[in-house]
Amino acid sequence: MAIQRTFSIIKPDATKRNLTGAIIAKFEAAGLRVVAQKRIQLTLAQAQTFYGVHSERPFFGELCDFMISEPIVVQVLEGEDAIAKNREVMGATNPAEAAEGTIRKEFALSIGENSVHGSDAPETAAEEIAFFFSGLELVG
Ligand code: CMP
Repeated sequence: MAIQRTFSIIKPDATKRNLTGAIIAKFEAAGLRVVAQKRIQLTLAQAQTFYGVHSERPFFGELCDFMISEPIVVQVLEGEDAIAKNREVMGATNPAEAAEGTIRKEFALSIGENSVHGSDAPETAAEEIAFFFSGLELVG
């Protein structure tokens, strides 16, 4: 498998509890390298656009309100098979189903407040990176 880049968010429940460093340490320990990163606070319009694919879901309003409730850390992770590896390190969406040692098992509060987001495929990784980062910020 080749070197890939993927997009990652450290969500409001985690930044609020000062878990940013602990979460980044999990990615680094798994061989993923942070090649771009910034701390931002989303507007409602930005959250609705980013999560547009979920706009018909019953939890859409709750999801967007949560994502703007505190700052988030957006980052690009690079490494061997990075998209799958990131999802493995994150664990299942629902922390009750997440494997031991994963970020969501250790830190997530609920299926909504689940500490991290990660791209699910190469196409979404490219779209999500471009949504938050310009070429100049992606120096690697
Ligand atoms: P994420 O990987 O960011 O992608 C979409 C998010 O929607 C997901 O993580 C969860 O945080 C959230 N989500 C998924 N299912 C539910 C649910 N049943 N209730 C609330 N939030 C959910």
